[in-house]
Amino acid sequence: MVDHWCCPRRSILPSLLVCLMLFGSLPMVLWPSLKNTFQIMKSDEIKAPDNSRNTTVLMWYWAFGLSENLLHGNLCKERYGIPNCILSDDRSLFTQADFVIFHNRELINGEQRLPLHLPRPQQQGWVWFSMESPGHNGNINFLDGKMNYTMSYRRDADFFAPYGWLEPHYVGSGMTVDDFIPKKKSSLACWVVSNYAYHHRRTEVYNELQEVIPVEVYGRAVNRPLDGEQLLPTISRCYFYLSFENSQFQDYVTEKLWTNAFKGGAVPVVLGPSRKNYEAMIPKDSFIHVDDFRSVKELGAFLKKLAEDRERYASYFKWKLNYTVSAFSNVLVEPSCRICTKLDTLQKPKVYWDLYGWEWK
Ligand SMILES: *[C@@H]1O[C@H](CO)[C@@H](O)[C@H](O)[C@H]1NC(C)=O
Ligand SMILES: *[C@@H]1O[C@H](CO)[C@@H](O)[C@H](O)[C@H]1NC(C)=O
Ligand SMILES: *[C@@H]1O[C@H](CO)[C@@H](O)[C@H](O)[C@H]1NC(C)=O
Repeated sequence: MVDHWCCPRRSILPSLLVCLMLFGSLPMVLWPSLKNTFQIMKSDEIKAPDNSRNTTVLMWYWAFGLSENLLHGNLCKERYGIPNCILSDDRSLFTQADFVIFHNRELINGEQRLPLHLPRPQQQGWVWFSMESPGHNGNINFLDGKMNYTMSYRRDADFFAPYGWLEPHYVGSGMTVDDFIPKKKSSLACWVVSNYAYHHRRTEVYNELQEVIPVEVYGRAVNRPLDGEQLLPTISRCYFYLSFENSQFQDYVTEKLWTNAFKGGAVPVVLGPSRKNYEAMIPKDSFIHVDDFRSVKELGAFLKKLAEDRERYASYFKWKLNYTVSAFSNVLVEPSCRICTKLDTLQKPKVYWDLYGWEWK
């Protein structure tokens, strides 16, 4: 069992709608610069290819069967302002495709295969795509020497496709931190969990924490599911949100932080990679890390105190005066179009001889 990246995974269509509801209204998002102290994408950094030649990006199949009609016009340009970029799922374009994307899940469960029987153009780049952490990607040794590029949440992927990021913004002089803190707070800590497994570290931490402070738990795992409309309003009534990842890996920070906590207006208590790794993505005073404390008991005591200290609690929202949270408007199409904006900086040729090793490093 794996948490679906972006949305609950059991029913795909409603999930997609939730994704669109959550992310669809965001301003146009842009490509990352890792030069900054943390992960930021800025509008003026979108680099459109200036060659007049079209780049063809072929999705060999759709991830999770979430297909969309790509035939109507020049999608990458219309939606994201990326010119000369043809996104297609038409396999007859294989010989002329510059990039072919393979989503990992369908390869490891045997639903899809690599087109090894077809003559592969020398210049073509095969792109391995996964938003899951290494523990959930299966045995991928059979892909060694076949993939040229990676597309994932990892910051060192060839095509960086994060679950979320911050963009600088200016809110104007009239706003104060208080404007970003939801007024009605009735629960101390909340957690939405769809996949409750005893071996997860997060389960252990939760069990200890709920002995010290009250934790409201929602989600399929406890038969208290929240639909897309209830999710953020519910979380906004909590002082703290447990952004606990299902596994702890470099850069693996999901919608549990970006959407649930940050957009919901609760201070995230994170369990995931190290604090240092989080600080490469978000301001250091925007979250509380489980590892900041010697014990879960101390963490619980800290949260209780913090909720009672208005000023100190508010300091965790200061960053909202300067940054806004973004995510891809469409988690399959948008990152795929963005391949075309990276042509200049791409290493060529490149081959992943040990993809598993890259994942686990
Ligand atoms: C690139 O693709 C667009 C949209 O399909 C098409 O109108 C245009 O003629 C193509 N440009 C070149 C140089 O092939
Ligand atoms: C953050 O925004 C506030 C209010 O707009 C501004 O006064 C402050 O200088 C900004 N801080 C940084 C680090 O940009
Ligand atoms: C892609 O990988 C193959 C090996 O599987 C290699 O022959 C080819 O040159 C690589 N192409 C690019 C564009 O890196």
